Amino acid sequence: MADIGRGTGFGKTILFGEHFAVYGLPVIASAISDRTVADIVPSEKYELIDNRPATPGYKEKKKGEMERSMKLLLDYMNIDVKRDPVKIILSGDLFCTSGVGASAAMATAIARAFSDLYGLGIGDEEINRISYEAEKSTGTPSGIDNTCSTFGGLIWFIRDIDSGKNTIEPIKLGKPLDIVLANTGISQDTKAVLSDVKRSKEADPGKYEVTFSKYEMLVKDARKALEAGDFEAVARNIDKNHELLREINVSCDEVEKIISAAKASGALAGKITGTGRGGYVILFTPGKELQEKVSKAVESIGYITMKTTIL
Ligand code: MEV
Repeated sequence: MADIGRGTGFGKTILFGEHFAVYGLPVIASAISDRTVADIVPSEKYELIDNRPATPGYKEKKKGEMERSMKLLLDYMNIDVKRDPVKIILSGDLFCTSGVGASAAMATAIARAFSDLYGLGIGDEEINRISYEAEKSTGTPSGIDNTCSTFGGLIWFIRDIDSGKNTIEPIKLGKPLDIVLANTGISQDTKAVLSDVKRSKEADPGKYEVTFSKYEMLVKDARKALEAGDFEAVARNIDKNHELLREINVSCDEVEKIISAAKASGALAGKITGTGRGGYVILFTPGKELQEKVSKAVESIGYITMKTTIL
């Protein structure tokens, strides 16, 4: 056994398809370079020290989900921290809030750190599997968050509900995408929002059928537009996607306020990214100058932003 085990996991942003992902529709998502780091050392007693930067209230809101996630991860890896206590220290530059895949980044980092500590040599496929098990703390995860956090890059992802053998294809962009991620400051319990959407789908399957087929058309068009570097079509589809997310009731006032301010300062499009009803908003801002301008405009109305480029 090593003296210390270390592992990392990327954050992510969903360009197209949160929520629809859960029902087996295609998603386009990308890892971001910000990541969570886990260090694990043998100790007298089991401890989890969470030094990750986070939105105020995030860790409290996510406490239950995080405990469930840790239990699922330890059970799946067959690790008994009562028998072999360890201290887990979480850090890294991924600013934790709803929408950036913070829980998957944490699980991926911890799985890798255990593998490193115990010399298990676990490969990425299995790390992804472990991280997916931990994501079950949200109820019915699609698998997109753990996939991005494990492998990185921009991907086309389809959950195969029956076989569990998901489609994962790398996407090659025609042109890099400059984006701004704006933090609403609101943390959401993913499990609660997923259950809500499920309930409303069960109550009105006809409505969801129409929404899903509109989404399927737009995501296919969006993939072509991304590959061709056709920013106008990318923007049009981001806005259409957000309209469908509004229809399934996962937007909120803060998200709409951010999108309005961003568009008034030139952003081409905007939508929620991730769970929604808060969390992060993704704003499409091609060109460094526009990216800077939109970021300043959103910060001037009181929201923290992150500028990043998807390559
Ligand atoms: C959460 O980042 C994305 C959701 O679609 C849930 C999932 O896909 O597991 C809301």
